[in-house]
Amino acid sequence: SSVSGALICTLLLTFAWEFLRRRQFWHVTDLHLDPTYHITDDHTKVCASSKGANASNPGPFGDVLCDSPYQLILSAFDFIKNSGEEASFMIWTGDSPPHVPVPELSTDTVINVITNMTTTVQSLFPDLQVFPALGNHDYWPQDQLPIASSKVYNAVANLWKPWLDEEAVSTLRKGGFYSQKVTSNPNLRIISLNTNLYYGPNVMTLNKTDPANQFEWLESTLNHSQHNNEKVYIIAHVPVGYLPYSSGIPAMRQCYNEKLVNIFRRYSTVIAGQFYGHTHRDSLMVLSDKEGNPVNSVFVAPAVTPVKGVSQRETNNPGVRLFRYEPGNYTLLDMLQYYLNLTEANLKGESNWTLEYILTQTYDVQDLQPQSLHRLAKHFAVPDSKQFLKYYNYFLVSYDSSITCDTKCKALQICAIMNLDNSSYMDCLKQYSIKQSH
Ligand SMILES: *[C@@H]1O[C@H](CO)[C@@H](O)[C@H](O)[C@H]1NC(C)=O
Ligand SMILES: *[C@@H]1O[C@H](CO)[C@@H](O)[C@H](O)[C@H]1NC(C)=O
Ligand SMILES: *[C@@H]1O[C@H](CO)[C@@H](O)[C@H](O)[C@H]1NC(C)=O
Ligand SMILES: *[C@@H]1O[C@H](CO)[C@@H](O)[C@H](O)[C@H]1NC(C)=O
Ligand SMILES: *[C@@H]1O[C@H](CO)[C@@H](O)[C@H](O)[C@H]1NC(C)=O
Ligand SMILES: *[C@@H]1O[C@H](CO)[C@@H](O)[C@H](O)[C@H]1NC(C)=O
Ligand SMILES: *[C@@H]1O[C@H](CO)[C@@H](O)[C@H](O)[C@H]1NC(C)=O
Ligand SMILES: *[C@@H]1O[C@H](CO)[C@@H](O)[C@H](O)[C@H]1NC(C)=O
Ligand SMILES: [Zn+2]
Ligand SMILES: [Zn+2]
Repeated sequence: SSVSGALICTLLLTFAWEFLRRRQFWHVTDLHLDPTYHITDDHTKVCASSKGANASNPGPFGDVLCDSPYQLILSAFDFIKNSGEEASFMIWTGDSPPHVPVPELSTDTVINVITNMTTTVQSLFPDLQVFPALGNHDYWPQDQLPIASSKVYNAVANLWKPWLDEEAVSTLRKGGFYSQKVTSNPNLRIISLNTNLYYGPNVMTLNKTDPANQFEWLESTLNHSQHNNEKVYIIAHVPVGYLPYSSGIPAMRQCYNEKLVNIFRRYSTVIAGQFYGHTHRDSLMVLSDKEGNPVNSVFVAPAVTPVKGVSQRETNNPGVRLFRYEPGNYTLLDMLQYYLNLTEANLKGESNWTLEYILTQTYDVQDLQPQSLHRLAKHFAVPDSKQFLKYYNYFLVSYDSSITCDTKCKALQICAIMNLDNSSYMDCLKQYSIKQSH
């Protein structure tokens, strides 16, 4: 009958939709909402985040000297919602408040901004499971995330409850980290680390060997996943490894970086991918074992905020990204980077988020496996590599292709992509005859 025909049709469509949905997830990071942003003739007054400087070319979607207006953030989430790409979950790696001097914020204003962002996401995506991680700006005073419970940890534990189970809410409340299984994907676990505890400017963790016992918890969580045949995606704000634009500086304190690298090496067969934010730039890293074999792929996503300092030449266009994976074993297959040409959006008064590149296609690699990315990094290292020119343009999210990366700049990039621990990174710098900056 036509009734059962319609029923079968509905079932098939539901099945097809589920099938597609379970193969991809979104990554957004560094929203940095500046609630003071507004268009006005006095350009020093456009946004508090320009810190008294004249905004350069302010428009409805923002300015490169300002953090994000609400409209920019909304345009990013609207794009995700209307992209036609059905995802099974979203990861969101922190930094919601603006870059302004500490006295201009407070615990309450920080919580208000995080609440605003969370409410925005929850109302646009009521059925999507979202996995947040705290950033160094998601606290007041900034960077000083504590090793015990706090008003902010408590607030986010309450805000993020709809996405998490009781155990996750409990560790979030105590230390700002958690692990949580993905509802729509059996045997996939997200571990959301509070790497802000390891960030250089955090004085709350000075001299502490295992702040908030997060290392111990991480090892036991990974061990549990290993014994239960789960795969894990690691998410956090401050990335592991070295900063790609400065010499000899890991993103977190050296000793913590070494510890984390060792844990990730030990459990590399359980970890199917690592995802970070914080640098505001688009970059890749490949974790190798002690023998130099690639064992993990690491992705740093560019920010939604386009902000830069007055004297800085480089910044990024706003970006968001989509990852594709194999549903059974969570192998990463591809990454699609989307961006907003901020100049154009402001000129037209309309946001046209578009695809910037598809990783496998733009670099002609098979997938996002460590071996594939390791081979790619070796191609980058070749002098005059065309692939590397692309990589550097994408590093800035196509902000300005006339900004080039000289020999030293390139060496720092290559060493940071391929080496995450002190000794191999230092060897790499030596190979390129670069002296450490400190
Ligand atoms: C978030 O803040 C913006 C102003 O910065 C406001 O327009 C918007 O309504 C707020 N949204 C929510 C959900 O609180
Ligand atoms: C901002 O621009 C105005 C007008 O061009 C100028 O008079 C003023 O000195 C500028 N302020 C700063 C802080 O650069
Ligand atoms: C950390 O250790 C250094 C050197 O051992 C010491 O000077 C400093 O006071 C310690 N800091 C804290 C916060 O305990
Ligand atoms: C790992 O988990 C297994 C099984 O749950 C347990 O027997 C073992 O003691 C754990 N090892 C560590 C290092 O935690
Ligand atoms: C993941 O599963 C797919 C499909 O079953 C298979 O082709 C692939 O080899 C697996 N990858 C790994 C790394 O096990
Ligand atoms: C962004 O838009 C501006 C203004 O239309 C244009 O000059 C520039 O080439 C565009 N950038 C990219 C990467 O397309
Ligand atoms: C949006 O951007 C794409 C790619 O750059 C372009 O093809 C398209 O015409 C643009 N649409 C609008 C409405 O500007
Ligand atoms: C890093 O490696 C260099 C050279 O191998 C070594 O001199 C230095 O002591 C190491 N630093 C740390 C903190 O391990
Ligand atoms: Zn940030
Ligand atoms: Zn940050």
